[in-house]
Amino acid sequence: MKALVYLGRNGKSLEDRPKPVITAPADAIVKVKRTTICGTDLHILKGDVPTCTPGRILGHEGTGIVEVVGSAVTMFRAGDPVLISCVSACGKCANCRRQMYSHCTTGGWILGNSIDGTQAEYVRIPHADMSLHAIPAGADEEALVLLSDILPTALECGVLNGRVQPGSSVAIVGSGPIGLAALLTARFYSPAEIIAIDLDDGRLAVAKRFGATTTVNSSNGLACEAVMNLTGQLGVDTAIEAVGVPATFELCQQIVAAGGTIANIGVHGIKVDLHLERLWDRNIIITTRLVDTVSTPMLLKILCSHKLDPKPLITHRFKLDQILDAYETFGHAAETHALKVLIEA
Ligand SMILES: NC(=O)c1ccc[n+]([C@@H]2O[C@H](COP(=O)([O-])OP(=O)(O)OC[C@H]3O[C@@H](n4cnc5c(N)ncnc54)[C@H](O)[C@@H]3O)[C@@H](O)[C@H]2O)c1
Ligand SMILES: [Zn+2]
Ligand SMILES: [Zn+2]
Repeated sequence: MKALVYLGRNGKSLEDRPKPVITAPADAIVKVKRTTICGTDLHILKGDVPTCTPGRILGHEGTGIVEVVGSAVTMFRAGDPVLISCVSACGKCANCRRQMYSHCTTGGWILGNSIDGTQAEYVRIPHADMSLHAIPAGADEEALVLLSDILPTALECGVLNGRVQPGSSVAIVGSGPIGLAALLTARFYSPAEIIAIDLDDGRLAVAKRFGATTTVNSSNGLACEAVMNLTGQLGVDTAIEAVGVPATFELCQQIVAAGGTIANIGVHGIKVDLHLERLWDRNIIITTRLVDTVSTPMLLKILCSHKLDPKPLITHRFKLDQILDAYETFGHAAETHALKVLIEA
């Protein structure tokens, strides 16, 4: 089968690899119909994710058809259309019992990381009962790919951890796919104000179309002043960090209101200062989280009821044999205006 293989820092190739086989009774083999590339795949290619070693097939998002299941799988059988979760979960360990699937002791984010992933014709999914979701009849199959990772990530790590509430004020720092997904899911809770912040006017224009009340281009270094002016010098109730660099977490610390919440989503590769000398008396909460995908069943229902339309996030389409072009397009988003690139079998 064809597969996109990580070769070490800045190296990848489309190779012929053996089709995966069942190795544990709880496994399923899925024939991948659609997959996509995540910003995290670019982090891997930069060498930022040491658990992902050369030779690994990348990809942790996708939909497909179950090809074969192991003897312990009870929820799925061959021929079932499924959504693949970016997080695999046994459902039984102490962390899974707390719905903290991201820290499952025999799962978590392993797909396209420490085990082979979805950017291939077939993928082996461990703990299939808990790590696949049946696709409801009538669901928009293209939009579903966005439920593998970015929508549950934005909702769980950003909106729910950020305690977005009716009438509250929210700033989302970063208008990439994750920040835009946070914008879409924040709207479930009717905040009065959603301020989108980015360096890229193209992405801010998309944020505006997705329902941001105000957009702020922070490239002039004046984003803090802009947000304070927009909020009567109070700051925002929720500051969502959706980039993963020190400057954006620092901005969140500057713009959070007394009693507010900073919800970090970004993957941070280097140390960031925490300004407790300014924040110790501000009654704030700071949260971090790796997506658990506990909200995926709820998101599936919302998608099927047409109360969520994430499809405009898909900007480009490729076939699996063009995946290197897909990486090129996704990797140069500023020029190509790519948000999510869909890769079809
Ligand atoms: N916590 C989790 O479970 C989880 C899951 C998935 C992704 N992530 C992380 O979420 C982050 C966002 O993902 P993405 O795919 O949207 O990334 P992305 O790189 O596509 O988007 C980041 C956006 O931030 C903007 N930006 C960069 N520097 C900025 C600055 N100084 N000020 C304002 N804006 C700035 C960029 O222009 C871009 O639009 C990444 O760090 C990713 O690894 C975390
Ligand atoms: Zn991802
Ligand atoms: Zn577990």
